[in-house]
Formats: sequence, structure tokens, C-alpha cells
Amino acid sequence: MSQTENESGLPFQEKIVPELLRHRVVSPEEYMRIYRKVMENPQEYWESMARELDWFQPWGKALDDTNPPFYKWFVGGELNASYLTVDRHANSWRRNKVAIIWEGEPWDNGPKEARKLTYLDLFREVNRAAYVLKEVYGLKKGDRIGLYLPMIPELPIFMLAAARIGVTFTVVFSGFSAQAVADRMNDAEAKLIITADGGWRRGKVVPLKEIVDKALETTTTVKNVLVVRRTGTEVSMKPGRDAYLHEVMTKVPVNAYVEPERMKSEDPLYILYTSGTTGKPKGIVHDTGGYMTLLHSTMKHVFDIRDTDVFWCTADIGWVTGHSYIVFGPLQEGATEVMYEGAMDYPEPDRWVSIVERHQVSILYTSPTAIRTFMKQGEQWITKHDTSSVRLMHSVGEPINPEAWRWFHRLVGRGKIPFGSTWWMTETGGIMISHAPGSYLVPMKPGTNGPPLLGVEANVFDDEGKPMPEGKKGYLVITKPWPGMPLTINNDPDRYVKVYWSKYPNVFYVGDYAIKDEDGYYWILGRADEVLKIAGHRIGTYELESALIQHPAVAEAAVVGVPDQVRGEVAEAFVILRSGVEPSQKLREELVKFVKENFGPIAVFKEIHFVTKLPKTRSGKIMRRVIRAVATDSPVGDVTTLEDEASVEEVKKAFHEFK
Ligand code: WTA
Repeated sequence: MSQTENESGLPFQEKIVPELLRHRVVSPEEYMRIYRKVMENPQEYWESMARELDWFQPWGKALDDTNPPFYKWFVGGELNASYLTVDRHANSWRRNKVAIIWEGEPWDNGPKEARKLTYLDLFREVNRAAYVLKEVYGLKKGDRIGLYLPMIPELPIFMLAAARIGVTFTVVFSGFSAQAVADRMNDAEAKLIITADGGWRRGKVVPLKEIVDKALETTTTVKNVLVVRRTGTEVSMKPGRDAYLHEVMTKVPVNAYVEPERMKSEDPLYILYTSGTTGKPKGIVHDTGGYMTLLHSTMKHVFDIRDTDVFWCTADIGWVTGHSYIVFGPLQEGATEVMYEGAMDYPEPDRWVSIVERHQVSILYTSPTAIRTFMKQGEQWITKHDTSSVRLMHSVGEPINPEAWRWFHRLVGRGKIPFGSTWWMTETGGIMISHAPGSYLVPMKPGTNGPPLLGVEANVFDDEGKPMPEGKKGYLVITKPWPGMPLTINNDPDRYVKVYWSKYPNVFYVGDYAIKDEDGYYWILGRADEVLKIAGHRIGTYELESALIQHPAVAEAAVVGVPDQVRGEVAEAFVILRSGVEPSQKLREELVKFVKENFGPIAVFKEIHFVTKLPKTRSGKIMRRVIRAVATDSPVGDVTTLEDEASVEEVKKAFHEFK
């Protein structure tokens, strides 16, 4: 069956929702006129957005910029993110509206498990969870907890429960290993970690509790582990430290109510770790008032969210996209959304299309890697189902190639619905650049990201901080503070200043290459630093190098990113073995396995090459630029600062042997 046609020849959905779009379609010039007007006073614009939230106490000043770059938004205002996402709707006509349509991964001629939570259900669950945090574990405002959970409703429920009582949470993506869990718990000084006995991924159980047990061997602050029973897998429980959630819950009143804390606008909501050029991942701290305002503005404009919609963001909550566009964004709007536990193509490539059809998804937010995977699997998997409920789509996480854009737009977008590539990052909190940058829509151009949103001032700079001419590649920057910006890096404000605010004075340095074209559209080209985007996952080359050198056979390692048809980018490693260790294919495979186990399965290598020298500067710094040039068959460029030019030949030889 393809699209359901009715007598008038229109697809089914278009008959019941005749007006497809509330956006006003404008030319790029017209948008720029509106934009410039708004930008005469961006704070006024952001205040108009903030006013649409429910505050316990209105703010005094929109922006406190007395201590740059530590900006504070809506100072004096008080609110609570859990109240905004849950109470507000549970106390309104949305009380019995479905908030979350959850589908588990296991499949048996259909989804084996599904749950629908209304706003009232969510209110109840969040309150009970908050009761557990507060009354059972004695947590209070300012405390920190860690969440290492699969994509099950308990994850958003505990995020919202923590927000309710002012406890700052940090979510660790369930594809990370024990080391990553330990590092994050230690840096965040988490007192409690919430995990599950396991999570389903491609029909297999990911042993989350076992990983937590290993992580806890090296953590210093975690006192308790709360375990959600998800897969029924047998796990070891340490008496006095570990408890099952369902057992704890037997002591919690069904109608438990926990008063939401009055949080200051600039109080932290969460910490999310993200990779940079060097060192361990940085704990980006997001505030409450600015963040929730940015999410409201982007849900309203970029996604045109309405009560009739079914919104589906296919990201994992372990990454920022899930924080903003599964948890806080859609729920703040009182939307109905889909949350899916597993792999998009499990057990068959059309799993995700069946979700769209089954739940009549109307807004789809997905990634270029997912789209390229679907392309490879073939369009028959899509045309098998009716996807005519979809009225708007966006992608995120990495640049989208025009072929993938066209293919998806034709097949799922019926060649006509809006389909943008929204640019943003962990640090920005929410979308910054989009083809739907206000209640307007500018013409789509495949491969572009569109203009900056109303209220957001971006630019493309050269090394000296001068704007690049149109059409010329430079560094993407944000030149005015925006709500949703980081408060700081956890435990390291100096690093916050150094990484983002030092390349150019008073300007936020993003770390992406970009081009601005004649229409004022941005083309984000990819990272300008040592950060990889493997299948959209942000991974530092440094992290993969550290994982490699933990193997006893490895003396030194250099990792660079190389293009990949489906994943966008994958890692390529050049490794110096310890003396006495013989290179072999077996060792190569072992190293790949080792990194997957010790860092996480999201590390994908194209190849591991063995060399005896790496190109270094005289001060001993690995010249990844040179290695990357070799690995992408491009000119090596200036090598005068190299200590030993023979190393380049060696890297070339190793590369060509295994191309
Ligand atoms: C990249 C993900 C091109 C970019 C929300 C950025 C994109 C990094 C796009 C942040 C896009 C994100 N087009 N590139 N639409 N969206 N990126 O922190 O390189 O995981 O710097 O946040 O993803 O990744 P992060």
C-alpha cells in the first residue's frame, strides 16, 4: 500500500489537516528585512518569547552582561522546568492528552511493548520519582545525580523529577563505556546514579548495570545505585548501595506530590558532557530560564508545533538533541510525541517507517546518517507504508548532502513539505540556524542550513576576526549572547573562557567551518578542530587516541576523521606499537574491539594502520593535519615545521597498503 488516497485524490492526512503550514513563506530578502528589524533589539524579542512561559516570579532584567562571558538571562525571574513541562498541562485541558507514545524495541509481528502516558500520568510519575529522590535518597536543591538509562520513559521522568526539586542531573549516553560513566560521575560529583538492568539494542541486551558496577570502582561520590528493571536480566545488587526502582516505589504514595522548587532563571538545569579538541569531555552547564525560552521559541517556530501533531525526534536522550527535543522542548509545548527505544532499522529496515505510520507522525526530526542508511536499504521499505501524515521535517547533527536531502524529500516529503537542516550544538542548547527561523519559512536549498533565527546573530570570520566575504569559507561564530547559552563548564570556568571566548573578543567561537551565501544562508561544512562526527556522534580524536594507548600493545596513536558514505565521517588510526609487538591483522581487529569495549560501540574505524613514526613538530606535537591529508588523498601542504619528513612517507606507505 502506498499513500492512502481518498476520492478527491488527496492523501488522507491532507484532507483532515487541510492547512499544512502556519508559517508565512517569504523570500530570503524579506526575511532579512524582518530579521534586521528584530535585531535592533534582540532582547525585546527574547523577552516576548519568555513571556509565553509560566514564571513564578517575573524577571527584572532580560540580560545581565556585567561579567562577560558569564551572561545571565532573565535575572530575578523564577520558574521550574518540571512545572512548565508537566504541571501546566496536567492542570489544563491537556490533562488526558497523550504526552509520550513509547515503543520498546522488541518485535513480534508488531511492537511487543508500548506505553502511552498522558500528561496526568506524566505528572503522577514525575511526582513519584521526585518523591524517591527527595524522601528516599534525601537529595536536595544543588545536589547532582547521574542517569545512565536506555530510551525508556523512566529517563525523561527522572530528568523532570530532578528538575522539579532543583537537583542537577547529568545523562550519560547508554552507548558509552564504564570509563566515560566514571569520569562524568566524578566531575559532576553525583551522589546517586540511576540505571537499568539492561537496555535493548538490536535484539541484544546492553549490560548497563554491569557497566555501572565497573564504573563505580573508580568513582568517589556515588553512594547509591537505583536500578530500573527493563530486560529482566539477572544483575548483581550490592546491599546497602543498590536498589530496584519498583521495590522502592512500593513505599511511595500513588498520589505523591512534591512541590516544584522555585528555581532562579540562572540556576543550572543540567550538565551535559561533550567532546572538544583536547582533554576530557567538557561538562556544559545549562541554565533554566534562558534554555526553556529558547526551546519554546524553536518548538514554536522551527517546528510549528500544534496540539494535533505527533512529534518524533529520533535522537537518543543521551545527546543534547534528545534533552532539548524529546524532553524539555516538546513537553513544554504540551505536545504528543513518540519515543522509541531501539535501532531505527530493527528488526527490519522499515521499523521506523512503521512507527511513522502506526502513530501518524506529523513532524519528524532525524539525522543525515539515518537518512543515508535508509537510502542504502532501498526505497521499497518506505513506499511499503503510508507516510502522508508527515507535514514537516528537519535533520540535525551533521551536514546533509544534497542527494540524501533530495531522496528523503521526494520519498517522505512528497516533494513539497518543508525539510530543513537545523544547525546547533550542545553548547547552544537549542536550534540557532534554520529554514524556519521565525514564523516564516524561507525557500529550501538542499545542503544549506538557512539563515540565523530571529534573535540570533551569527557570522563567518577569518582568523583575525574579520567577516568573510559571501561564498568564502571561514569560522562560524555567534556574535551576541542568546538564551540557552552555557552558564559555564562544570568545575572549569577558565576553560569555558579559553575554548569559546578567546579566539575573538566577546564572540562565541563555535569550532565549525561555514560559508555564508548571497541569500544570507549558512552552509555549515563540519568541524574545524579535532572533533569527529561519526554517524552524528560527537567524539574527540583525543578520546579515541587515549582509548587506543590503554591497550598494552600500543605505544602511540594518532586518530583523524575521514569521509564515509553513510556515517558522514569515521576514524582512521595510525598506531606505533610497543617494541617487540608484531603488527598483524589479528591485532588490528583486537584494537577495534578494545576501543569499542573501553570507549563505546559508537567508535567506528575505517582502518588501523601500523607505523613506526608519526609526523610531529619539533616540540613533539602530532601533526594531525598532515595525517588527515594523507588519509584523504589530499596535498600534504607545508611540512617545514616537521621534525622528521620521513614520517610522512611512512604514514603514506601504511595508508596505501590498506586503502
Ligand atoms: C554539527 C548536535 C551541519 C556541527 C545538535 C556542530 C551540524 C556539531 C548540524 C555539534 C547541521 C549539528 N549541519 N552540521 N544541521 N547540526 N552539526 O554538540 O559540526 O552533538 O558543531 O550537537 O554538530 O554537535 P553536538
